[in-house]
This record gives sequence, C-alpha cells and structure tokens, in this order.
Amino acid sequence: MTASMFEAIQPVPIDPIIRLWEAVTQDPSPDKLNLVLGVYTDEQGRVPRLEAVRQAEQEWLAKGQPKTYRPIEGTKGYLVGVQTLLFGANAPVLADGRAVTLQSIGGTGALKIGADVLHSLRPGAKVAISDPSWENHRALFQTAGFEVVSYPYYAADRNGVRFDAMLDFLGSLPSGSIVVLHACCHNPTGNDLTPPQWTALADLVCARGLVPFVDIAYQGFGDGLEADALAVRLFADRGVEFFIASSFSKSFSLYGERVGALTIVADNAANRSKVEGLAKRLVRTNYSNPPTHGAVIVEAVLQSPQLRTSWEQELAGMRDRIRAMRGQLVQGLEQKIPGRSFAFVNEQKGMFSYSGLSAAEVGRLRERHRIYAVDTGRICVAALNNGNIERVVTSIADVVLHP
Ligand code: LMR
Repeated sequence: MTASMFEAIQPVPIDPIIRLWEAVTQDPSPDKLNLVLGVYTDEQGRVPRLEAVRQAEQEWLAKGQPKTYRPIEGTKGYLVGVQTLLFGANAPVLADGRAVTLQSIGGTGALKIGADVLHSLRPGAKVAISDPSWENHRALFQTAGFEVVSYPYYAADRNGVRFDAMLDFLGSLPSGSIVVLHACCHNPTGNDLTPPQWTALADLVCARGLVPFVDIAYQGFGDGLEADALAVRLFADRGVEFFIASSFSKSFSLYGERVGALTIVADNAANRSKVEGLAKRLVRTNYSNPPTHGAVIVEAVLQSPQLRTSWEQELAGMRDRIRAMRGQLVQGLEQKIPGRSFAFVNEQKGMFSYSGLSAAEVGRLRERHRIYAVDTGRICVAALNNGNIERVVTSIADVVLHP
C-alpha cells in the first residue's frame, strides 16, 4: 500500500463566518439567535420570499420551459438588466461597447472568475483589500495566486473611515495593483466612503493606474439603487479598466440560488471582446455554464415595469426596516449602558454593524445568551426585529457591564 496522498495536507483554516454559522446550526438551544451571516430576515425572523420574485417564478414555471443549457455568459436580457442596474440606462460605457457581463455563481463566483482573469494577465500584481474586509476576500485572491495586502480603512477609536491613510497607502502601490473596493454597505464595518471621497479615490486610481475590483453585493441596501452605484459610475465615466462583482443574493432574497454577475470594463470595444473571450474560457473550464433558475427570475423582474416597481418597493422596505432597527439598537444600548455612545451605528449602512464589541464580549454573548456574532464584533442588524431587539440590547448590556 502506498501512503495516502492526503496525509500531508496541513489543517486548512475555515472562514470564521462559516465556522460560526456551523456552530449556530449545531446549537440545539431553541432560543439561539444568528447575527452572524449576512442574511436579511423580516419582522417574523424569516428570510422573505419577495412578492416580485414569487410572481416572476410562478410565471416562469407556468410556461413549462425546458431546462436546457444556458449560454456561457447568461442570456441577453439578464446581462442588459445587470448592466443597467450598474451603469444606468444609456450609459456611454454601454453605448461604446466597453463593458462585458457574464452571469456568475453568486457574487463570490464573480470575484473568483474575475480573479482568475486578472491572474492570467497580471500574476505578479498585488491585490489590496480593506482592513478589515469580508473574510473571504483575502482567501479568495490568495487562492487565485495573488499576494494580498491590506489598505487602512477602519478607525476603531472613532468608528469611521481612515480615508487619508487609505489614500496614502493606495497612492504608494505600484501601478497595475488591484484594489478591491466595497461599492456600498461595507462588509464588515458598515462604514462607507462619502461621495466626495469616492471622487477623490477615482482620481487617485486614474493617476496611479490602479485596477479597481468593485464588489457590489448590497446594491439598494445603502441609500438606494442609483446612489449605491456611484463608485461604479465614477470609474466608468473616467474610462478606467475595472472589474465589478454583482450579487443578487440579498437584494432579491435569493441566497441559495447563487445569482450574480461579473462585469469587466475595458478601454475600448476591441479589448472588451478579447477579455470576454478569456473570461468565457475560464467559465467553460470551471463549470461550463451558469444555472437557470435564479437568473430567470432576476431577468423577469428587471424587465417587467410592474415587477420592477414592486421589487424596488420591497427593497426599499428592507432598507428602511434595517435603518429603523439601527435606531432602536442605538437608543436601547445608550439607555442601558450609560456614558457610552453608539450613535455611530446610525451612520453605518447596509446589513452589518461593527458594533465595537470585543471578541471577549462576543464570546460572552454566545455563552450566556445564545446570541451569535462574529468575533470581530460584526453583527447582522438585518436579523434584528421588534421581537428580538429587546433581548439583544439587554444581552449586549449584560456582557459589556458584567465581564
Ligand atoms: C456575509 O458576509 O455574512 C455574507 O456575505 C455571507 C457570506 O458568504 O459570507
């Protein structure tokens, strides 16, 4: 017998979000509360089935369409829908044929195919991610073969963005470096750049010849569909070459369907066509072509004026409810923990809040109260509701005040 080829495998680190998610799933406690994962739940604590999604799905199922293969890049209607969300209708970048979009396996799939495209073009480039960033960004770009560095982003002492330090760092990167940016609803902190800061950043990216990779997983959860696309549109207007990873997991509440898109913007249509060929080959050699179900729903909603209006209303409803929960969280915590301000939580956007809780406090929250959050203090405010907010506030006050 020869030795197992697997024996030498070193223990592989598990993504902390996934590790905690598994821990919640295995916890038999009936009152466990999951504030780990970026999943929106409604007032009843359920992942909603959006009405527009339900209608589009029913209409499609009623047609009894065969489940044949999809094109490698997805269908035309889907791609146009994605591009219009990103760039707006009649955007010059579209009219000039500079942008190519491929349907992807969620936002993560878009990041991965984009990373592989970039690695085949610029294997020696550095990839810069924010400090902190979504736990999977570093692992994903490292797995694609890149050296990953962190740029300054979050100031824990003042719960804000270290914008000057961020610019200084990015300005010192070699030309051609790749910069991963969160378009809106920064994951994990909830702290976004202001519009003037985005403009300054876009100027720097142009001047230094950096390659932005914009991760837009929460479009519509920050200030609205249009406002949340600001970063994408600034880069498109400046004519830089860049990458965008879109996800519809959250905005359509279609998490398990893995619906996303990779968009690559080139300097002209001829180069767009070249990079399109490369990206399609990478898709073909990875998983051949993308799945049908979720994309058909998203396409139908984006194409139908009636369904689109209904979806936008539901999206606004989710956004507003998260904001209301932020307000209640701040009010409750400030009442129960005198002398400590949590006002910064109201300034944050999207599903997450860097709450300022330490790893030890998060640990006590889990042990004493069966409330799960990420050790960094990231909590999913999109999982709060009127039925659990009081318990969350009381429990947080307990772990802060009684070590
Ligand atoms: C999160 O950050 O919790 C979400 O984006 C889900 C995930 O895959 O990590």
